[in-house]
Parts: sequence; C-alpha cells; structure tokens
Amino acid sequence: MRIHAREILDSRGQPTLEVDLIEGDRLARAAVPSGASCGSHEAYEKRDGEVSWYAGRGVRRLAAWINETLDGKLVPGDQQVFDQRLLEIDGTPDKSRLGANTILALSMAHARLVSKESALFRSFGSGVILPVPLLNIFNGGKHANSGSDIQEYMVAPVGARSFSEALEMGVAIMRALKGRLQRSGMSTAVGDEGGFAPRISSHAEVFELILQSVEDVGLQKDVFLALDCAATEWFQDGYYHVEGKKSSAEVISLLASWVRDYRVASIEDGLAEDDWDGWKLLKSQLGHIQLVGDDLFVTKSALILQGKDAANAVLIKCNQVGTLTETMAAITAARSLGFASIMSHRSGETTDDMIADLAVGLGVLQIKTGAPCRGERIAKYNQLLRIEELLGVDARYAGRSAFLSS
Ligand code: PGA
Ligand code: ZN
Repeated sequence: MRIHAREILDSRGQPTLEVDLIEGDRLARAAVPSGASCGSHEAYEKRDGEVSWYAGRGVRRLAAWINETLDGKLVPGDQQVFDQRLLEIDGTPDKSRLGANTILALSMAHARLVSKESALFRSFGSGVILPVPLLNIFNGGKHANSGSDIQEYMVAPVGARSFSEALEMGVAIMRALKGRLQRSGMSTAVGDEGGFAPRISSHAEVFELILQSVEDVGLQKDVFLALDCAATEWFQDGYYHVEGKKSSAEVISLLASWVRDYRVASIEDGLAEDDWDGWKLLKSQLGHIQLVGDDLFVTKSALILQGKDAANAVLIKCNQVGTLTETMAAITAARSLGFASIMSHRSGETTDDMIADLAVGLGVLQIKTGAPCRGERIAKYNQLLRIEELLGVDARYAGRSAFLSS
C-alpha cells in the first residue's frame, strides 16, 4: 500500500497532517485535528520543532519521515489488526515515536480505504440514530478573548423531531443571538469554534443573552444549555480561578447555581483533570445532570473505567488516544458503566468529516462540533444531513433519550 503524508493547515492556520493511502485504483484520505485546551494525559502530538517554519509547529519533516519509512510497509485489511500494527511500530506508551497525529491519520485513512460500504457510517456499525448536536454558540476560555472563563456555551435542541430540525433550531438561536449582539453594539465576530465572542463583563451576561435568544425564537421547551468549563485551565497553585479564588467545593456551588438559574443540563470538565476527589463530590451533588469528562478521561478506556463515581458521560476525541480501535474501546468502556458518550471535534479542525460517520455508525447519541458557523464545523453537520437523508424512513433522532439523566 502506498502512503503519502503531507502538511496542510487546520482552521487556526496551524500545520496538521493529512495522509493519502493508495491501493490499486483506490485512494483514501484523512486529516487530523488539534486541540488548544489539551489534557496533559492526552497521547503525544508530534511536531517538527523547526523554529523557522510555523514557529516550530510544522509537520513537514514528520510527513517526509512517514513517506520514507512507512510507504509500502503496511498492509490494508482488518481495522483492528492494522491499528495494532501501528501501535507495535510506535512501541511507546504515549505514542511519542509516531505521534498520535500520525497514528490517527493512518487509522482514519485506512478505515476509508477498506470500507466496502457506499456510505462510510455503515462500516462502523448498524446505527440509524442521528446524534443531538451540542452547538457551541458562545466561545470563551482559550478559544476566544471574550473574557469568559467558561470555554463553551452550547445549546442542545433535544425537542426536535429530526437532526435537520435540530440544526435549524440551532441556526435560529444563533441568528437571534446575533441580532441581540448587534442591537447592543457588541461584536459579532466568532471564536475558534464558530460561536460569538464579544467582550463580556460576566458569565451571567452570557447566560441571559443566550436564554433570551432561545426565547426570541420560542424554543424554551425544546432546548437546554450545555457547558464546557475546561476547568483544568482554571486551576493554578491549588485553587480554581473563576469568579475569584475557589476550592473544588466552592466551584461546585458555582456550577450548581448555573444549573439552577440557567437551565444547564450538561457540564463538561467542571473541575480539573487530576481533581478526582473533587469530581466525586461533584457527582454526589450534581449527578442528576450530565457530567462529562474530557481532560479527565482523555478518551482512554483505563481512565474511564476508574470514573464510575466521578462522572456519568465521556467526551470522545479520537486524537486524544490515537487509533480508531482505541476510540471504539473508549465508547465500549463508557457503555459498560452506563455512561453517555459524546463524539467531539477539536478546536483546531480540518474539513475532514469522519466524526459524523463515527457518531451514527457507532450509535453515539450526542455530537459536539462547534457552532453552525465556519466551514470546518459545518462540514460535519452537513455530513449528518446527508446521512439522515440516506437513512430515509429508517432515520431516528436521539432527542431527549441521548441524555441519561433527562
Ligand atoms: P480543544 O477544545 O480542542 O481546544 O481541546 C475542545 C474541548 O475542550 O472540548
Ligand atoms: Zn472540553
């Protein structure tokens, strides 16, 4: 099998890897994303460190090395066998020899190459359920300089009857929010994940703006809010720095007030990645809503299996772990605990849309892929529209059932 890797750019203008696999007259291509608020336990992302090229973040040498050492050396076939071979070639616990970016690009391209289905999602499983989109309509944290410590404010249109209707609801809310921002003289420029990002003075201001926008379009009964606090970013010198200096228990009280006042039904990374005791306290107090581990679990089954008392849902990011096989193992681990899974993009994305196929094929009932804005986010939503069309009368929309606690 011929392998050709190259350096391309992601949605932030940072280099990332794209791989072509060629076998006979078939060509399969895949590109990998990259995070900004990364968990420290994520698999290693390899970059060249050549300071004169993209300030060290280039991958052109990595691509050349892949082409020199792996071209003609791998055989397509069973996905698990192929992924296992990649892990053997890498041979390190953190994937630092090949890099998780190399491993994932090869793993994804291989899945496309060997798929015998006319629609890729069918090669991942027999799923017919379209996921609830968690649309990130206001950006903060490391994804924008809005001044919000909360990284993502998402709307979940659970009351829609179909995925296409859910997407339309998301766009209607985004349009209403845009109108409100414009009327207040605030910026309508967007952040890394396509949500608005004007300078704001408090979290309460954003919550009010979003809930009023939901009301403007009459969707109060159909939509609830989901947050990604990315609280690892808040944690420094033993304290959380959010609305002042706080202990874990004090952060939990703050989260509880948002749940009570602003119809928040899902909180991702409400506490930092290594604060396991805090997470247990969080679950004991707010376990009636969805508590999602992102930096906490970094898509690794072993960590997920330790999380029974700490969370009740898992964010699934393929590049946190490396291969598609390991990604699927993480979903299986989540299911074994009765946890929900949420398929996720990264803040630095490409137009690769495989996560849409993975979500439907694997039966993952929620997806997080940004606002309905910016081409790299829309690429995934459009693929879900195509899948829904293809499934026709067999298509189902996950709706409220996607949330274990609702
Ligand atoms: P990241 O953000 O891709 O920058 O890590 C997404 C998230 O935290 O969920
Ligand atoms: Zn997150």
